[in-house]
Amino acid sequence: MESAKKPKRRSQEWFGREGKLGFYYRSWLKSAGNPHDMFDGRPVIGICNTWSETTPCNGSFRELAEHVKRGIYEAGGFPLEFPVMSLGETQMRPTAMLFRNLASMDVEESIRANPMDGVVLLMGCDKTTPALMMGAASVDLPTIGLSGGPSLSGNWRGRPVGSGTGVIQMSEMVRAGELSQADFTEAEACMQRSKGSCMTMGTASTMASMIEALGMALPENAAIPAVDARRYRLAQLAGRRIVEMVREDLTMSKILTRTAFENAIKVNAAIGGSTNAVIHLLAIAGRLGVDLKLEDWDRLGSKLPCLVNLKPSGQYLMEDFYYAGGLPAVMNEVSEHLDLSALTVTGKTLGENIADAPCWNRDVIRTLDEPFKKEAGIAVLRGNLAPDGAVIKPSAASPNLLQHRGRAVVFETIEDFRARIDDDALDIDETCIMVLKNCGPRGYPGMAEVGNMPLPPKVLKKGITDMIRISDARMSGTAYGTVVLHVSPEAAAGGTLALVQNGDMIELDVPGRKLHLDVADDELARRRAAWKAPEAPKRGWYKLYVDHVQQAHLGADLDILVGGSGGDVERHSH
Ligand code: FES
Ligand code: MG
Repeated sequence: MESAKKPKRRSQEWFGREGKLGFYYRSWLKSAGNPHDMFDGRPVIGICNTWSETTPCNGSFRELAEHVKRGIYEAGGFPLEFPVMSLGETQMRPTAMLFRNLASMDVEESIRANPMDGVVLLMGCDKTTPALMMGAASVDLPTIGLSGGPSLSGNWRGRPVGSGTGVIQMSEMVRAGELSQADFTEAEACMQRSKGSCMTMGTASTMASMIEALGMALPENAAIPAVDARRYRLAQLAGRRIVEMVREDLTMSKILTRTAFENAIKVNAAIGGSTNAVIHLLAIAGRLGVDLKLEDWDRLGSKLPCLVNLKPSGQYLMEDFYYAGGLPAVMNEVSEHLDLSALTVTGKTLGENIADAPCWNRDVIRTLDEPFKKEAGIAVLRGNLAPDGAVIKPSAASPNLLQHRGRAVVFETIEDFRARIDDDALDIDETCIMVLKNCGPRGYPGMAEVGNMPLPPKVLKKGITDMIRISDARMSGTAYGTVVLHVSPEAAAGGTLALVQNGDMIELDVPGRKLHLDVADDELARRRAAWKAPEAPKRGWYKLYVDHVQQAHLGADLDILVGGSGGDVERHSH
């Protein structure tokens, strides 16, 4: 069925063999009921599945994979579903982010070692998307991304509740004495009420949007709810399309050019996307040799306003976003800022994909002329406190705090913070700056989402809901506030952050892109000489990770994983 002149398929290095080896490769797959003609040279498509009961956000992926298979069979391909390490954001300790790079290795080597010509990536919960994209990029076969979609809108006693965002708000109400523990517990079952990822514009929805903006997924990938029939239709279409992509040899690196990343960064601003996207896109770019820098986020993204009125910054949820037109409507509205010539997995350009995409609700998706927030994107701060950079999301911050000089209240670890923050004797008020150390890639380890520290009760009781917080941690994409994150180098790597002491004055100037610790250089040198690195892990993945993880401004990938090894076929196993 394939032209004889075409280069031999990768999978034919397995299935096209004679003799004992060919017998091995085919026979064991025939035990699954596959007829002999499945090995005739048709495109073999891996379906990379992150389903797990420990990752309920990806709970629909068994059904989703079946619909992908329909499409693959229809188009004349041969699907082979395979599991990889799943990363459930809410369950994994110390943080799912510690395992993003490990999962990416699983993905990369599972693809490389197996008879596949193309791959469909099933991604949903926060870290599953970058892990699969990173791993697949290092192999660079024809690849299509398929997100699982957001869960249904949360609803508690008739009120919408957003994933993550709602629990942050409600827990502050409990701490301020405004909500009972019983009501708080009841809300647990009202927030996450279907399969699917967080339905705010948190990290999962942001990354699903990034996949679509990068051109790696079919249009509408970002927003169709997980349990909406149209999500299954999209899965079937993705299955059909990946078979064609193999025939066209449309590999990942042909789509993920620098132009694609520039488009994605701009779209991230327009949707008010998560700060986590900064780290993940830097890491994905690193696998492909695309020269993307932390500064690109500020340079490209801060010129666009935020159009999308979604929690955590706004009012609506992902279901509303889909019904309003979803990401194609947003990209159409900002199309003058995008490079519409970028190639996508449809085989068409981004411009062709989004032409005339309608918007059905202008309260959810605003226009460039009347945006939801003028300040959007990610601001990259520098100064002696963050020589390699730190980030803040101005759209989630309080305007009155964007330029502020305050007294540092320092917490050495997150445990130190938790032990002292509720103590009314703590010397802190709303003008202070909360500083948290040792939560970066090496320090936590894994760079946990603890940067949006809850406020002290005595400040909350005054009705104040925001203070400046600075750390080397990340923040949940569902969180908000004037929170400076990803300080690089981190404290555990000996960054200036490690040297901050109680009472030091810190200047934050977001318009000026500055983060300055007002302590004299000779005093900092004295403190640096006395600083001792925290004890490092001694074995296993933790040791490999801490020995090799790069700092946040480089994407926190392992240095040994940057770049790719390609899809060349290895020697025989028997
Ligand atoms: Fe899985 Fe938010 S916890 S997507
Ligand atoms: Mg999250």
